[in-house]
Amino acid sequence: MGNLYQQIANEIITQINTGLYQVGDKLPGVRAASLQRGVSPATIVAAYDMLANGRYIELRPRSGCYVSSPIHPDFLAPAISQPAMTPRNVVGQELVLQLAQQSQKAGVINLGAAVPDVSILPTLAIEKSIVKAARLERLRVCSYEFPPGNLELRRLIAKRMAQLGCNITYEDIVITNGCQEALLLTLKAITKPGDTIAIESPTYYGLLQIIENLGLKAIEIPTDSEQGISLEALQLACEHFPIKACLVVSNFSNPMGASLSDQQKKALVSLCKKARIRLIEDDIYGDLGFNSQRPSVCSRFDDKVIYCSSFSKSLAPGLRVGWVASKQLASTIEQLKFMSNSALPTIVQVAVADILASGKYERHLRAVRSKLAKSMHEMIVAIERYFPAETRITQPQGGFILWVELPLAGVKGKKFDSFNIALQALNENIAITPGKLFSAAQKYQHCLRLSSGGDWTPRKEKALKRLGELIKDELKAHS
Ligand SMILES: Cc1ncc(COP(=O)(O)O)c(C=O)c1O
Repeated sequence: MGNLYQQIANEIITQINTGLYQVGDKLPGVRAASLQRGVSPATIVAAYDMLANGRYIELRPRSGCYVSSPIHPDFLAPAISQPAMTPRNVVGQELVLQLAQQSQKAGVINLGAAVPDVSILPTLAIEKSIVKAARLERLRVCSYEFPPGNLELRRLIAKRMAQLGCNITYEDIVITNGCQEALLLTLKAITKPGDTIAIESPTYYGLLQIIENLGLKAIEIPTDSEQGISLEALQLACEHFPIKACLVVSNFSNPMGASLSDQQKKALVSLCKKARIRLIEDDIYGDLGFNSQRPSVCSRFDDKVIYCSSFSKSLAPGLRVGWVASKQLASTIEQLKFMSNSALPTIVQVAVADILASGKYERHLRAVRSKLAKSMHEMIVAIERYFPAETRITQPQGGFILWVELPLAGVKGKKFDSFNIALQALNENIAITPGKLFSAAQKYQHCLRLSSGGDWTPRKEKALKRLGELIKDELKAHS
């Protein structure tokens, strides 16, 4: 059997590389493949095992073998970040709204926003559930649904979290206006102005805005694009500074795409426990892994972890349905939510509950995961084609965000800032997100965030090509 299974595996690798099999496609079953190729089932099993070990395919129990999101071996990942680890005020966040507004203008192709493209949203399912809610619950949807929010929705969310191993009931859940409000209310509940929050670096800029808004300080912790936040560095920071809370995006983070392994999640939970700091887990991308196995969460290791999420990335951002799950804080957050804006619109809560209960959400996730894997692959291939050699990028195994580190070798004199590229690109109706927005201290000026969340189109390809030219010109102008 020796070489035969390797030969078959290599043939399939060629078929994947040449596009015959695409990400998410199912390979023939063992029996069918053995009949087709006239070899024993054991040879096919060995070939498929070899492909799975090389991460070319994923073996899904009771389902079959599926082509995985490929690893692009020619790309180096960005190096682990090295922020200055001191508590500081957040600066520069006023640029975010400006860029967000510009990028929404008609005709702009948005390659920077961390939102799934409308082309892959389950718009029909959403429409049907909203219409159904309006028709069947006409009176109810015209009334307030005061915090903690719709009971059915909280039950369904609690059930999903219980399936992840969390010790959570619907009574521990408060429905919020997206994950942004979940994070805001959580930080409001546990901090006072001047407190320090440990965060990944780079981190999601919305979090920096909350920190700024609440008069808190951020301490940026070195973060690796594959391993996530450095636990050693966090430990060190805890020993030297009075840190109140640590906030991490535990799966397919924004912007690095990092996911903590189970072991790291457990270690992070115990580190925070020992250091007596609150751990806030943002798991907004957790349902969007390219593999069928949903990654775990920190909250399953300790019910004191405060869990924040929303359906903005996995269903639709415009629904604005998010939640906080916390045994200890639910009633405080409920009060804060009520004091902030009374309630979330009832109709969206009823509609999202229907989408969850009917199984439409799971069906959507099954379909969208392979679409996301495919479009991320396409974007990486385009970056390889059009961006300067030596560009480094992340290769997350879920979500739709790419962090790009541009090569600065040869750049001297005036400081290089990808913000200038973002402005030039906007002039040509291409929106990207410059790196400095992801740091309290405006680091990462040689980086940018791209979003691949949608069908790959010739228009996107063209925009990336132009972006590559702008980047090369800007690098040249600084060399
Ligand atoms: C990591 C992370 N957390 C929270 C949010 C905010 O989500 P929402 O739109 O549900 O408020 C985002 C949106 O980009 C995000 O990337």
